[in-house]
Amino acid sequence: MDLRCYVYKLMKVILFLRLKNISMKVLFVFYVCLFFCSCNYTYERNVELNADMHTFSNFETVTCKHLDWKANINFYTKQIDGVATWTFENKTKATVIIFDTYDLNIHSVIVNNKETAFSLGKKNEVYGSSLSIPILKTDTIVSVTYTTGKNATALQWLSPSQTAGKKMPYLFTQCESIQARSLLPCQDVPAIRITYNAHVQVPNKMMAVMSAKNPVVKTENGHYDFEMELPIPTYLIALAVGDISYKAIDDRCGVYTETSLLDQAANELSDIPAMMKAAEQVGGPYKWGKYDVLVAPPSFPIGGMENPRLTFATPTIIAGDKSLVSLIAHEMAHSWSGNLVTNSTWDDLWLNEGFTTYFERRIMETISGKSYTDMLWELGYQDMQSDLQTFGLKNPDTRLRVDVKGRSPEDAFSNIPYEKGAVFLRFLEESVGREKFDKYLNDYFSMNAFQPMTTEKALAFMNEHLFDKDTVLRNKLKVNEWVFAPGLPDNCPHTLPDRFVAVDNLRLQFEKNGVVNMPSFAKWSTHEWLQFLRKLPHPLDIEKMKTLDNKFQLSISKNSEIADEWYKLSLLSNYEMAFPSMKIFLTTVGRKKFLEPLYHEMIKTEKGKKMALEIFDMAKNNYHPLTAKKIQEIIEK
Ligand code: BES
Ligand code: ZN
Repeated sequence: MDLRCYVYKLMKVILFLRLKNISMKVLFVFYVCLFFCSCNYTYERNVELNADMHTFSNFETVTCKHLDWKANINFYTKQIDGVATWTFENKTKATVIIFDTYDLNIHSVIVNNKETAFSLGKKNEVYGSSLSIPILKTDTIVSVTYTTGKNATALQWLSPSQTAGKKMPYLFTQCESIQARSLLPCQDVPAIRITYNAHVQVPNKMMAVMSAKNPVVKTENGHYDFEMELPIPTYLIALAVGDISYKAIDDRCGVYTETSLLDQAANELSDIPAMMKAAEQVGGPYKWGKYDVLVAPPSFPIGGMENPRLTFATPTIIAGDKSLVSLIAHEMAHSWSGNLVTNSTWDDLWLNEGFTTYFERRIMETISGKSYTDMLWELGYQDMQSDLQTFGLKNPDTRLRVDVKGRSPEDAFSNIPYEKGAVFLRFLEESVGREKFDKYLNDYFSMNAFQPMTTEKALAFMNEHLFDKDTVLRNKLKVNEWVFAPGLPDNCPHTLPDRFVAVDNLRLQFEKNGVVNMPSFAKWSTHEWLQFLRKLPHPLDIEKMKTLDNKFQLSISKNSEIADEWYKLSLLSNYEMAFPSMKIFLTTVGRKKFLEPLYHEMIKTEKGKKMALEIFDMAKNNYHPLTAKKIQEIIEK
């Protein structure tokens, strides 16, 4: 039992003594003890989960507005000691403010300069625990002193050996969808927005960066101050700490990464300013000031995360030939779709990801041309089709607006909100014409900026600004079916890009005679390679696998997308020569999109399953806690 419980028990005794009319002197002594204890006391409160919104918080009645965060980053204990001071608005004269927490150790709570009781609700595996704090109608500030837990799902702590420089440890956060609550107590819903200041203390010689105004050089004392003065939802709070340096690309854009990778990363991403120009043509003026990219260590669990002012990205996009930079176009596009106009609940994720994927392709069309972008559309279409097949065409999770009520928002996660969402918008654009569509899109961003957006509200906006209230046209286009029905409407556009027609022809020849047409293959972009590898029959006979490997060194490809596709084919064809490099890939890279399909493939045979267990055992410390959990589930099936 911790001290707080003793104090709580004492309070009860006091109350009892009082009822029995025992002298006030005794009472006074108890209160003095209590005061000097300087620890908090808890009270009991049951808080029901708001399953629609994935929160315990009462954000609708008491709404957080601003965060002042003090954080000491402790690499020895792998914990953050923090003080989160929240300014809130109490619209309905509520008597309690409720936060979301996940595995946080709460030390004390101060309301209006006075230490106050608090109550932590029963822990839920997915949502964590509620933190209830009694307030008076006039209170506006609450301060929570806490330490993050060992199971913080937002945090990944890396040892020096997991970094490029190998000298200093590293920490990064990933808060989308509902992980921010394991970083700090907050009302963890995308429907409300907060501004923040942060004061972060890190060991000397390290730099801290956040989704805020960032330093460009390291400080002497390891102290960093941040400000995000534009309101953002909590899932966009982000922090990274390590041996990080900055290189500007132009006045507005630049790259943060480990010092030893800086030049390479800055070269790869030198087109960011051109992308920004293209993006502003689609979305209107960029509202966030600077746009920088943090290239994270290889264990970063996803491709990219649109943290405002500072996209976090996996280093697996550094292919040496700029062929994977559409990922940056995607995260940049979120500066409008997602960060300005934000999905109100996780059921509306397609408003973030579908709009962004469409937007990403428009940026790529401007900077790399139509024939290049058509390949991105087709690969996305294939990803969507593959998920439609796996889920089944009647599965409710294949709807654009899903229902993840009471489930982890990531439960329904797939390519559907991305690719079905994007192709829906492309279809609308082709139906009404680009000029009209662009005007609508611009209005959508400017008229709803810094607001939450529900699917219903987005459709109402579309009715008014895209269809001019013409319900006949809207019904003819089957808008409701696109959004609310599972599967894919029969008016979904799809044409095979010319460059893939050429690839398919060469593939057929190769399948027949096993000979590679060297000059044509050598000219291929990453995307043509992906089309080729995806469409090869499997198992492919070993001689053909060898021919491809000998000519193009696919097993040791530095291009993560090509390597990943090749390893899948190698597993399907039992091409063992690729396995040693695949093991290195699986133990260095933490990107879920690459890991999950490879583990899924491995566990299909007895031999493969043994290999999967061995690799996972070596690799698991390099994986993000949520990724490790997912892979564990896959291999234990
Ligand atoms: N916002 C997402 C990442 C995300 C989505 C995290 C949902 C948690 C829940 C980000 O913008 C994204 O989509 N990243 C993609 C890259 C993109 C090019 C498709 C990824 O990480 O693979
Ligand atoms: Zn995205």
